[in-house]
Amino acid sequence: MRIGILTGGGDAPGLNAAIRAAARRAYQLGFQVTGIKNGWAGCLGRGDFEDLPPAAVRGILPLGGTILGTSRTNPLKEKDGIAKVVALLRGNGIEGLVAIGGDDTLSVAAAMSEAGYPVVGVPKTIDNDLSSTEFCIGFDTAVGVVVEALDRLHITASAHPRVMVVEVMGRDTGWVAMVGGLAGGADMIIIPEFGVAFDEVVEHLHRRRGGGKDFSIIVIAEGAKMKDLEPAMATAAAAGAEKRDAFGHVQLAKQGVGEALSTRIEEATGFETRVTVLGHLQRGGSPSPVDRIWATRLGVAAVDLLKDRRAGLIPVRKDGEVAVVPLREVIKETRHVPRELYDLARVFG
Ligand code: F6P
Repeated sequence: MRIGILTGGGDAPGLNAAIRAAARRAYQLGFQVTGIKNGWAGCLGRGDFEDLPPAAVRGILPLGGTILGTSRTNPLKEKDGIAKVVALLRGNGIEGLVAIGGDDTLSVAAAMSEAGYPVVGVPKTIDNDLSSTEFCIGFDTAVGVVVEALDRLHITASAHPRVMVVEVMGRDTGWVAMVGGLAGGADMIIIPEFGVAFDEVVEHLHRRRGGGKDFSIIVIAEGAKMKDLEPAMATAAAAGAEKRDAFGHVQLAKQGVGEALSTRIEEATGFETRVTVLGHLQRGGSPSPVDRIWATRLGVAAVDLLKDRRAGLIPVRKDGEVAVVPLREVIKETRHVPRELYDLARVFG
């Protein structure tokens, strides 16, 4: 049996660990492995495939990025896109596929499975917001980057003293902001799930100053919305931030919620304020041990599903263990930060 492996969507630390795990299990089972280059883009046109012998996955466990490359190409946007992908895979002798990705990549995988092609998934996104899984590859490393940044920013913020606004990734949810902010001791965490009025931010900052705390650290997820910031963000949108990718997503980093918040804070309070946008720093670097272990467990479990001829499924983390759910299940809704975690963060405000 020959299986294919691809990585789609934004890269995340731990993708190579997942590729290695899937490939190593495949070799152990006597399968051959094809690497599909640049996500779904590699399954269109004439295809972009390469044989993945054991030597190709040697030494990649600690590497960030993906040796296969990735893209946000969406075959569902093409006429007969799924049929073309399936025909190309079959034509190249690839009898099953491991698709490693987030909701976008997995929505294509689910459509292929429904078209009768054996495909399994592996959950990946630093946003950590797929439903039915407690964990997505890349999240733990991204949180580590946020925590390190907050530790550093605490030092410089206290020296001046200043308000530090830290914008982190999180398109629809505030997992990275919430978990990173809690672990890094943020004074206020603003996420898409729970609206905060700008007046509350100002009040919070005055309360801290009044209580003798000369500096404040505010973490804001890039997808958070605040009415007062809309005019500044609309200017950014007019400058091109509304451009959408093949899955219909705008580039939130260009909308500049952190920059807008920092400007408004300075205007409203007179407190010197600086903004740090962590951006793609959260996606680079070597994966944490947690990301490596889960990429390994889930990558191996995915190939085992193909071996057992159980397709259209995805291994996930449930109650700390590997469980298996249908592909449609993980993309059915976005998993949001619960109220309990949000309230916990407010204890430290
Ligand atoms: O979906 C993961 C994510 O990291 C989001 O948090 C972020 O909005 C987006 O990808 C950025 O994507 P790109 O790499 O295309 O700028």
